[in-house]
Amino acid sequence: MARMVAHAPEELTDGRLHRLGEGIGKVVYASEHWVVKRERSPTEVVALILLWKMLRRWAHKIPFGWGDRLMRRPSRLIRFLRIATQAGMAVIPKSIWYSKHVSQVLRTYVSRDRRGEKLARTHLTGSTLVPEIITFPPETVLVGGWPGWLTIREATERVEATLDKKIEALATEGDFAGVELWLNRFLDTRLAGWQRGLFSVDAHLKNFGVVGQRVVLLDTGGLTDRWTDIAERLSKDEQVAEPHAQLGLAGVLAEQPHVASRFNERWKSMVNRDAVGDILGAECTPDE
Ligand SMILES: Nc1ncnc2c1ncn2[C@@H]1O[C@H](COP(=O)(O)OP(=O)(O)O)[C@@H](O)[C@H]1O
Ligand SMILES: [Mg+2]
Repeated sequence: MARMVAHAPEELTDGRLHRLGEGIGKVVYASEHWVVKRERSPTEVVALILLWKMLRRWAHKIPFGWGDRLMRRPSRLIRFLRIATQAGMAVIPKSIWYSKHVSQVLRTYVSRDRRGEKLARTHLTGSTLVPEIITFPPETVLVGGWPGWLTIREATERVEATLDKKIEALATEGDFAGVELWLNRFLDTRLAGWQRGLFSVDAHLKNFGVVGQRVVLLDTGGLTDRWTDIAERLSKDEQVAEPHAQLGLAGVLAEQPHVASRFNERWKSMVNRDAVGDILGAECTPDE
């Protein structure tokens, strides 16, 4: 269970919280030590997913390399998608939003998110693999941007940085030993999760964060204990020739082929059906 406290930390109620990050499903606001999450409305989530899929398919056709640039900058991409979505939702007919395909997409997304959150709460609470969560009686806080306020019942420990940012910063300083160390810690955290019977199918660097010496999982939405889902993800991962590039590190490691190839070697030896299957073994829900 998350730690229960008598009331929300003062720093959350003191002033207006700024927007720290956002994903497909949530917008995250922060005070100095805590973050709180606003869940997007179902239409917003669907619109973002559909646009994301469309963009992924067509990015390379957008002139001046804008599309490719966008695909390499996840934060900018999601901001762009949100703005495009808000415009799009006003002009796209309701019948499309309520079509069978769209509701299927949404159902998959929501059930994944709920399942992952539940698995994290039962298997990872109190472990070093996730940031701490506290719960308290409902409280309304002020947030930047629309809609200006938010009712919260819980808060999550704010991490120093997301893993993508941490690695970018180290690379900018020229500290590639540090880059390699944190990439290894990333794999260590994934391994520790598998040893508890849990696998994230959404393991990109923005979904992990840095606390002290360790890497923690920020986004529990991709967590699963079902071998069918895991094997599907891994069979795709096994096709990846350069995992570091897949993780968006092609630029960061352009001048560091040895760091890249050591990471890719270790990643390939771990992230495949044989290796993960051996670890998950009996922990996992077998195929139905
Ligand atoms: N505890 C945290 N500390 C700092 N930043 C966070 C934290 N949790 C989430 N974030 C930021 O917010 C973004 C979106 O949160 P996430 O839980 O991944 O939502 P989604 O399910 O929409 O992907 C993350 O990618 C990260 O940048
Ligand atoms: Mg996320």
